[in-house]
Amino acid sequence: METRKNFGSRLGVVLAAAGSAVGLGNVWRFPTEVGNNGGAAFILIYLLCVLLIGVPVMISEFLIGRHTHANTISAYARLAPGSWWRIEGVAGVFVAFLILSYYVIISGWTLYYLVQSCTGALAAEQDFKAGFSSFVSHPWWPVVYGCIFMAMTHVVIARGVQSGIERFSKVMMPLLLVIIVVLVACSFSMPGAREGLHFLLKPDFSKVSTRVMLSAMGQAFFSLSLAMGCLCTYASYFGPETRLVRTAVNVSLIDTMVAILSGFIIFPAVFSVAGVQVDEGPGLVFITLPNVFHMAFHSLPLLGYVFSVLFYLLLLLAALTSAMSLHESVTAYVLETTHISRRQASALVSVSCMLLGVACSLSFGPWSDFKVFGLTIFELFDFAASKVIMLLSGIVICLFVGWRLDRQLVYDEVTNYGTVPFRLFRFYVFLIRYVIPVIIGVIFVNELLR
Ligand code: PHE
Repeated sequence: METRKNFGSRLGVVLAAAGSAVGLGNVWRFPTEVGNNGGAAFILIYLLCVLLIGVPVMISEFLIGRHTHANTISAYARLAPGSWWRIEGVAGVFVAFLILSYYVIISGWTLYYLVQSCTGALAAEQDFKAGFSSFVSHPWWPVVYGCIFMAMTHVVIARGVQSGIERFSKVMMPLLLVIIVVLVACSFSMPGAREGLHFLLKPDFSKVSTRVMLSAMGQAFFSLSLAMGCLCTYASYFGPETRLVRTAVNVSLIDTMVAILSGFIIFPAVFSVAGVQVDEGPGLVFITLPNVFHMAFHSLPLLGYVFSVLFYLLLLLAALTSAMSLHESVTAYVLETTHISRRQASALVSVSCMLLGVACSLSFGPWSDFKVFGLTIFELFDFAASKVIMLLSGIVICLFVGWRLDRQLVYDEVTNYGTVPFRLFRFYVFLIRYVIPVIIGVIFVNELLR
């Protein structure tokens, strides 16, 4: 077994964790949810969820990981030997595996769209809706792209914590931020962009319902990479000097900023093209946006080309840094409980996950009639992972840290043994003991009864 390394620098810590958080969830899922749930009012509720639920849960995951310096399953087993709490660690790693299996498929789509944009094939396409559905339902092309994406993830993970994850995050995250700024500028330069800004900035509270709140909370969990063992695993590579609270706040800030900037990229562009719907659902970035690029290609060919290539590159980079964390969550477990090398552990995870990924991909095409509880395989995985297990895990993490762990241990971790102040410590404990479990519980029951 290789000796365990920590991240080498403070910047590396923040960028790796932010890389996990910033992903398809920000660029693809967030604007879709905003479009479906009425714009600015949703954003306000989302911000509250990040602040009151996201940050405390993230701190809790960080402290479990950093205290034990172990993969997520061993972390819980060590902190609560012989008790049922250990199941939480298993659930985290299991969900990471499940999410990775379909995350690579969607990421493969973004790779395909990037290639299409670069070669100019996207500009020549006539019907984007038909193009999109014929690609995703193809029996093997999406699998091929998914495999290439998985191979990219594997290469980073096989190199290890410092020369793989940290090094790549340090290059990819700044690049990603630069691309975002350029894209916002492109989007604002489209004619009629103002209407899109209006939609994003003017809250309409008549749209607010418990449904919207549920979506906002689910989105916050997904976007911040909570309850999947990812941040817990990354935190197991934090050194004693890393400030947990500050890191959690920084990561949440970066993640939220990227989500909102993605809205600034997508909505002004979408509104600038009459007749294109904002509430088109998941097709937003694969059907609606190509339509926008298409219009731009005709009036300003260079702008359209740059816009589309950079946009899919952005999606790809964001997806890659998140997939790395999902992969590492599982690989760390395999590595630390077997006697195989990191490279072998990573390969084992990549291949087995890809097999599940094939099933997910086929569920968009040849296997679309195969349903369990009325859901296709892809929908089932997404539902089980990001609705059921994720929310339940969120409750368990809070209860574990709030009630089971020794209060002194928690205090020592979040304050680095009393050397950094955390004035809101009591408030934090109050939130994780009572407020968050109750809120998630109520929403969860609501969802079950629907
Ligand atoms: N947070 C990532 C995103 O926004 C997705 C993700 C979820 C990554 C869970 C890791 C763990 O796309």
